[in-house]
Amino acid sequence: MSAPNKSYDPVEVEALKPEEIDRARDEALAAIAAAGDLEALREVKVAHAGDRSPLALANREIGALPPQAKADAGKRVGQARGAVNKALKARQEELERERDERVLVEEAVDVTLPYDRVPSGARHPMTTLSERIEDIFVAMGYEVAEGPEAEAEWFNFDALNLDPDHPARSMQDTFFVRGQEDQGAAGSGSGDDSGVVLRTHTSPVQIRSLLARELPVYVICPGRVYRTDELDATHTPVFTQVELLAIDEGLTMADLKGTLDHMVGALFGEGLGTRLRPSYFPFTEPSAEMDMVCFVCRGKSVGDPANPCRTCGSEGWIELGGCGMVNPRVLTACGVDPERYSGFAFGFGIERMLMFRHNVEDMRDMVEGDARFTRPFGMEI
Ligand code: DAH
Repeated sequence: MSAPNKSYDPVEVEALKPEEIDRARDEALAAIAAAGDLEALREVKVAHAGDRSPLALANREIGALPPQAKADAGKRVGQARGAVNKALKARQEELERERDERVLVEEAVDVTLPYDRVPSGARHPMTTLSERIEDIFVAMGYEVAEGPEAEAEWFNFDALNLDPDHPARSMQDTFFVRGQEDQGAAGSGSGDDSGVVLRTHTSPVQIRSLLARELPVYVICPGRVYRTDELDATHTPVFTQVELLAIDEGLTMADLKGTLDHMVGALFGEGLGTRLRPSYFPFTEPSAEMDMVCFVCRGKSVGDPANPCRTCGSEGWIELGGCGMVNPRVLTACGVDPERYSGFAFGFGIERMLMFRHNVEDMRDMVEGDARFTRPFGMEI
């Protein structure tokens, strides 16, 4: 640094010697030309045009020169720095152009390629809802059970306390499977003695589970069932039920009620009560119809004509299905001691549940396989 009243002869100041300035400039220009990419150029800029570059340091020395030497040295350093900055800018532009061209080639999109014409699918809401119900019970320790859709009459009726002449047998209009010997005799009229039916409900899985499993038995069984209905907005000859069976020591109707409340809470939201209405099923005693509080109006639409509820028809309750304490005769048919074991069962249709849960108005939408119905339900798993 300069001391007061002391000036340097520019010839004596090493950094300001013309050949030093030229050298610093030429080194800078060579480095700029050699910078292969923008990152390298950034480093070159710091080294040759930054605050601590040779030309910047030389510039600082000018102030200490005698006045007559200042102009000349200033011009020389200024020109050198100008040349370096100009070269930097030009190289910067050149490298940016190169990069842009490279990106355009590397990331080019061929808009002439065919697009993916296969739209992404969705799961059928019946599958999703069945699995959801299964999950609720699996989380409580239940196992998922299955049975055949072409079922022996004994499982579908007899073991469930529906004798051949039991009036309840006509409660369900049954598809009978024609026997082997009848196969060639179409039209002979006698096609009902194979002893096999398309199961009319999932209750035969209760029997299969009791025969095949160790006690206690806790099973949940979703499955397809068949009845001789026409397909219309509210009926379908093939539909889906969920059956539940719990057989253990000491089970009571309170366990049934608590289990129902839990299921309804898990499916529709906490705090929705259920109620049981006396009913009749041959395989349960006592038997009941089970209802849940309407999850839309929560009962508020009852007696309030100004605010009708479409979901429950302003009843305040939605009917779910049938249930009860397993009839001791069913336990006996399966070799289970009714003195020691008791339990409960219920069964309900999932299509109906899907209808009121998601405002599906026509049963046919669920079976026709039109993707426009399924797609809004998405890929929920
Ligand atoms: N199987 C009956 C039906 O399809 C429904 C049912 C009622 C199932 C009572 C049960 C039950 O397990 O306990 O109409």
